[in-house]
Amino acid sequence: MSELTDKLNETVKYIQNKCKEKPIIGIVLGSGLGNLASEIVIEKEIPYAEIPHFPVSTVVGHSGKLIFGTLNEVSVLAMAGRFHFYEGYTPAQVVYPIRAMKLLGIETLLLSNAAGSVNPHYKVGDLVVINDHISLFTHNPLIGINEDSLGLRFPDMSEPYDKKIIAAAKEIGEKYNYQLKEGVYMGVTGPTFETRAEYKLIKAVGGDVVGMSTVQETIAAVHAGIKVFAISIVTDLGIRETDDIITHEEVLLAAKEAEPKLTRLFKELVLVL
Ligand code: HPA
Repeated sequence: MSELTDKLNETVKYIQNKCKEKPIIGIVLGSGLGNLASEIVIEKEIPYAEIPHFPVSTVVGHSGKLIFGTLNEVSVLAMAGRFHFYEGYTPAQVVYPIRAMKLLGIETLLLSNAAGSVNPHYKVGDLVVINDHISLFTHNPLIGINEDSLGLRFPDMSEPYDKKIIAAAKEIGEKYNYQLKEGVYMGVTGPTFETRAEYKLIKAVGGDVVGMSTVQETIAAVHAGIKVFAISIVTDLGIRETDDIITHEEVLLAAKEAEPKLTRLFKELVLVL
């Protein structure tokens, strides 16, 4: 067994000793989106700091715990707080919890994030269902020795985001008149927000929204055979005429304001997975 699988087995054993639930749906809550967690009827919470080999989140707005419970009476495992490359974690550390989720039995992963928009048809507060991504501006988390027990050396990425789940989400969106957008997420390292020229570049190469998370998690999940659904809340407009700046506070606030829509969507989505 490799060092990685040894560590994962220790992690998983620790978690399983703490909680006997066996959810098949995993949820990752993005920046400013921790309140969705309050809709989860909690069975067991485990702070990341307690879990062997888990990195520890440092960003304001991330509480950093694993939550076992039920969302709309469906058993889920949620990560309140995620790990970002810009915090100094290696890409392998960023995706470590995703791999642990796989070994814990997760089959479908719902990811959420705050993102900047470069699509003129989007506005702050819009929900954008991610139908594809560009990860070339970040480090691929699969670089290094392949963990064959998890997945292939050269995994296909032609459909990283599950089409059936996207269709189900769009139906729910229509029911609530959320006017869901659909688009391509460009992953970047951060922690700087983009320059005006960079936002234009992102638009020119096919991005609709841009953010500092999600793509590495998606790659690791797809590698391990987990179905992925991901959604962005537009928190700021990258391409704009106004002479203003983008702040982390405004991103958190916009995410918080749009969160009830996201919560409703996830609550209904778990019923049809
Ligand atoms: N760029 C990158 N990451 C982000 C942004 C952005 O504009 N907004 C929220 N996360």
